[in-house]
Amino acid sequence: MLDSLNALEREGLDALEGISQADQLPVWYRAYLGRKGKLTDVLRGLGALSAEQRPAAGRRANEIKSALEGAFAKRQDEVREAELEASIASGALDVTLPGRPVAPGHLHLSTRTLRRIREIFAEMGFQVYEAPEVETDENNFELLNIPPYHPARDMWDTFWIDDEVVLRTHTSPGQIRCMRESHPHPIRVILPGKCYRYEQVTPRSEHQFYQVEGLAVGHGIRITDLIGTMHEFARSMHGEQRRLRIRSSYFPFTEPSIEIDMDCILCVAKGCRVCKYTGWLEIAGAGMVHPVVLRNGGYDPEEWTGFAFGMGVERPAMLHHGIEDIRHFYNNDLRFLRQF
Ligand code: PHE
Repeated sequence: MLDSLNALEREGLDALEGISQADQLPVWYRAYLGRKGKLTDVLRGLGALSAEQRPAAGRRANEIKSALEGAFAKRQDEVREAELEASIASGALDVTLPGRPVAPGHLHLSTRTLRRIREIFAEMGFQVYEAPEVETDENNFELLNIPPYHPARDMWDTFWIDDEVVLRTHTSPGQIRCMRESHPHPIRVILPGKCYRYEQVTPRSEHQFYQVEGLAVGHGIRITDLIGTMHEFARSMHGEQRRLRIRSSYFPFTEPSIEIDMDCILCVAKGCRVCKYTGWLEIAGAGMVHPVVLRNGGYDPEEWTGFAFGMGVERPAMLHHGIEDIRHFYNNDLRFLRQF
């Protein structure tokens, strides 16, 4: 009996020594010290011993039990410590490492284009007038000489907030705000900002986009001032050799109204896919401020004249960078944004 107890102790201690992973510890415990373990087996055999042998064997069994338990607790600590050390050494978490640098961002292509446009007009003496994106039907349409049910409203598919409030469909309502605020002084401003139209989203048109409106009101302002201003802008923005073409057009808030085209910067007016083989690119709608609009802004059309224009922002940027889909501007895809 004592021999098998001694053998059990040695076997248990050896097995414990061989354990290096924490999940093996409970397996060992069950095998040696558990209710159905080897020590319990041996103790069960005590009953078969004679009365003289029994106390010595019992004492030895208890010694072995506490020896194994002590060795188990010690081994458990050692294994846990070793595992912790290994995980620190393998770099699972090293709090002494420097943090990851946060890369500085840069301006969105739309913002950069807007800033360039602003710069060019600033050199020509234009100030910036900011107007809200949520507008009244009155400013967006009525005061711009577009009464309810006027067919000209069909040019602007509109997001209505309610019967009287819209997301502005163009930057032109800012003209009214600016005139009412500036009267009776002359005006020379640009009004940059976001516009919205309830349109089908395609590679060429988005339901949100930027425009830059221009407005000049003064004494003796003529259409040649408008054309000269646009010419200067086109050269500064798109290159010294740019030429313009003027076509007559229609807007309810300008009279006369014109469309301003620029020779295609890609094919230099030879004809290509971008200019649809015409050699020309449309850059702005424009005209002389309609007398009704001047009056709505507080300026007497007998005394004052003015010009206005409205141009897109994304389209020229697309042209410059060979971007074929306007939807990229609002997808927030860093692979696109980082290129500019
Ligand atoms: N508001 C017009 C548009 O969005 C452009 C425009 C502005 C035309 C100013 C004439 C004068 O299409």
